[in-house]
Amino acid sequence: MSNLLTIEDLAEQDIESVVALWRRCGLVREWNDPRADIALARTSPNAAILVARLDGAIVGAVMVGHDGHRGWFYYLGIDPAMQSRGYGRLITEAGEHWLSVRGVAKVMLMVRPDNAAVHAFYESLGYFDQPRTVFAKWLDGRPPTP
Ligand SMILES: CC(C)(COP(=O)(O)OP(=O)(O)OC[C@H]1O[C@@H](n2cnc3c(N)ncnc32)[C@H](O)[C@@H]1OP(=O)(O)O)[C@@H](O)C(=O)NCCC(=O)NCCS
Repeated sequence: MSNLLTIEDLAEQDIESVVALWRRCGLVREWNDPRADIALARTSPNAAILVARLDGAIVGAVMVGHDGHRGWFYYLGIDPAMQSRGYGRLITEAGEHWLSVRGVAKVMLMVRPDNAAVHAFYESLGYFDQPRTVFAKWLDGRPPTP
């Protein structure tokens, strides 16, 4: 055992493990289809899914991308059995690096207001709260989701 964390782009054979990881992390909402989200991200040159492995086993993942202006993180999670070991910090820094080398100056992400633990995690990594109201609309005609 090397205890060396590696972070690389998701490969086809990682998809089911990453979806299972995101479910264990509580990141999958009933109105989101993570396989469709992965498939769409993989078609974009401005997006990637970074996968963290420890001795070959997937322990974390994040979807990162930019819209030509800001960078965004989605689905950032570390396996519950492997949290509090610094891996969340490492995968966040890998996502920041992915954006920085593409010329993106700022990264954004959304956290539910009552999720104090995740607020503390991002604050410890230098992130700051920017109070905004997030407006959204499903383009397929679905009604609003929480
Ligand atoms: C949030 C999450 C990614 C953190 O991963 P992790 O591997 O446990 O985090 P780390 O061990 O790298 O912690 C990094 C820093 O955050 C702090 N931190 C992490 N969780 C914390 C908590 N619950 N309360 C306070 N601080 C916390 C750590 O103390 C550490 O600070 P330090 O480096 O100054 O000591 C992980 O808990 C997770 O996957 N949660 C479920 C999914 C989720 O909600 N993701 C966020 C979506 S926006």
